[in-house]
Amino acid sequence: MCGIVGYLGPQNPKDIIVSGLKKLEYRGYDSAGIAILDGGKTKRVRAAGKLKALEDKLLSEKFDGHIGIGHTRWATHGAPNERNAHPHQVNGVSLVHNGIIENYMEIREDLLARGAQISSDTDSELVAHLIAEEIVKTADLYKAVQKTLVKIRGAFSIVAFWEENPHQLVAFKDGPPLVVGLGINETFVASDVQALLQHTNKFIYLDDREIAVITGADIKIFSAEGVSISKKSVELNWDPQMVEKQGYPHFMLKEIYEQPRAVASAMAPHVNTEDFSVKLKNVGFGSPVHALDELESESDWKKTQEVLKGIERIFIIACGTSSYAGMVGKYLFEQISKIPVEVDIASEFRYRNPVIPNKTLVMTISQSGETADTLAAIRLAKEKGATTLSICNVRSSTIDREAHGHLYMNSGPEIGVASTKAFTSTLAILSTVAIAFARTREVINQKQEQEFVRALLAAPSQMEGVLAYDKYFDEAAHRLKKYKGFLYLGRGVSFPIAMEGALKLKELAYMHAEGYAAGEMKHGPLALIDENMAIVMLAPHDELYEKSISNLEEARARGAQVIAIGTGDNEKLKSISQYYLSLPPAHWMINPLLEAIPLQLMAYHLASSLGYDVDQPRNLAKSVTVE
Ligand code: F6R
Repeated sequence: MCGIVGYLGPQNPKDIIVSGLKKLEYRGYDSAGIAILDGGKTKRVRAAGKLKALEDKLLSEKFDGHIGIGHTRWATHGAPNERNAHPHQVNGVSLVHNGIIENYMEIREDLLARGAQISSDTDSELVAHLIAEEIVKTADLYKAVQKTLVKIRGAFSIVAFWEENPHQLVAFKDGPPLVVGLGINETFVASDVQALLQHTNKFIYLDDREIAVITGADIKIFSAEGVSISKKSVELNWDPQMVEKQGYPHFMLKEIYEQPRAVASAMAPHVNTEDFSVKLKNVGFGSPVHALDELESESDWKKTQEVLKGIERIFIIACGTSSYAGMVGKYLFEQISKIPVEVDIASEFRYRNPVIPNKTLVMTISQSGETADTLAAIRLAKEKGATTLSICNVRSSTIDREAHGHLYMNSGPEIGVASTKAFTSTLAILSTVAIAFARTREVINQKQEQEFVRALLAAPSQMEGVLAYDKYFDEAAHRLKKYKGFLYLGRGVSFPIAMEGALKLKELAYMHAEGYAAGEMKHGPLALIDENMAIVMLAPHDELYEKSISNLEEARARGAQVIAIGTGDNEKLKSISQYYLSLPPAHWMINPLLEAIPLQLMAYHLASSLGYDVDQPRNLAKSVTVE
């Protein structure tokens, strides 16, 4: 994971790098560092802990110079201390690294046998040593990097400069993302465009095994083998303001509140608000991502329909919160489109040699579009002959570029490490696709399609309505503090939301929580119930409501402490729970969108009242680009 920023140009690199790292801190916050070539000598400052520790150290430092690199670390090899912080420096070569070098033990032993002075426990420093060894022979950083690449295995990105050539930055990507930002007479490199939006909206996305050689304002891209590659730049319309907190105490809270708008933006391109129909817009099966905006929508939709008609089953593959969105997708596709769906966690799918029959659509869901396991899963699915369709938030991300068809969450940048608006936007887009599938395969008629679309269009204002009750979710969160464990329960389409609610509590408040299908309680988890265990029950008014009530009664009879979330002013739920939170009446397809909000807000309030850093929970990073 880790965040990388590099700069070459007329400005002082320090502020550019530090402000870029701030935008990338979501990728890792174990340590941070910066190296700037200043008057022919590299000045390096590093600090353990969050970026703030580095900023404090930098207050007393003055930098000149025009080339520099910076890094914020999510530790893999070596403890999160200053010694292991990047940039690493070996004989005038400074390097930052994101990813894992798999053969690092071997490399380390070889280097030590050759008398290398290794000063950290990282795999990253070893790469700097290898480059430094090569540079003695080649006197050329690009060639030295190229020669080093044949010696290292793994999934990694690096950016380096060399004291002897103050006009050159070299970047290589094989796995974790790297973009080159194009300014006027200046060039930037970063792990994510968010780090650079305040300087440019023009980017070149490096593909795997590509090297960018940045010399002044000149950028040349080569394959790892040295073949020159011509690449198009992409212009993004993201506003730098989108990556600011805009008055909210945390990005997470801002992003929770942005959900009605995010959900509306997710469905907007595909939904006709006059005749209440769905036409998926510019999915571009078989077209490269950069050409999507130029597609003729009507013929693209025909092509999409042809693909959908030929599909007999769907696999949805994702990790974490995105996989719970995928589980909701299973209910949507099976109930609305009558098509069988399997949902798989990417890290399992990729290693279990899955059987993918003909006529299978493999859908991947990934906010970042860079999650290593999901990326490996989509590659495997393609190898096995499946048609692939990605749902990403970050356009032109690796998964987006590799998929046959493309859909977008359209949530805007999500900075809080815990996913919120990307989750609900995904639910909206999955509903839209389910309706499109159903209509194309003629399993629903126009009237039914209109009913579904009307329900979808009502969702953003219903979500606004739920957000208005935040003070009650805050109050409920305070009640949760006293419990030692939590069971989040739901049935049907609410079951994945229970799993998602439990994950939010675990990752933000560091409390043990499990999401369970309510009907499973009597098969084991009932034994857990005592006065220290709280149950968070999702019981919306849908066709499984009566069954949910029975499950809740069973738990209550054994002394469970209950927070119930249901529809409207529900006397029954009130009477069998310690605390009742009401949601507005909604279509069953929309209930998950509404239920997600109190669960997100309860976890948020609980964690922040306990003094935890909700935007950057311990041990986590937003974009998981390593296995
Ligand atoms: C939890 C969370 C993670 C991500 C997961 C997948 O709040 O954010 O579980 O959902 O790491 O990330 P993406 O969607 O970027 O593939």
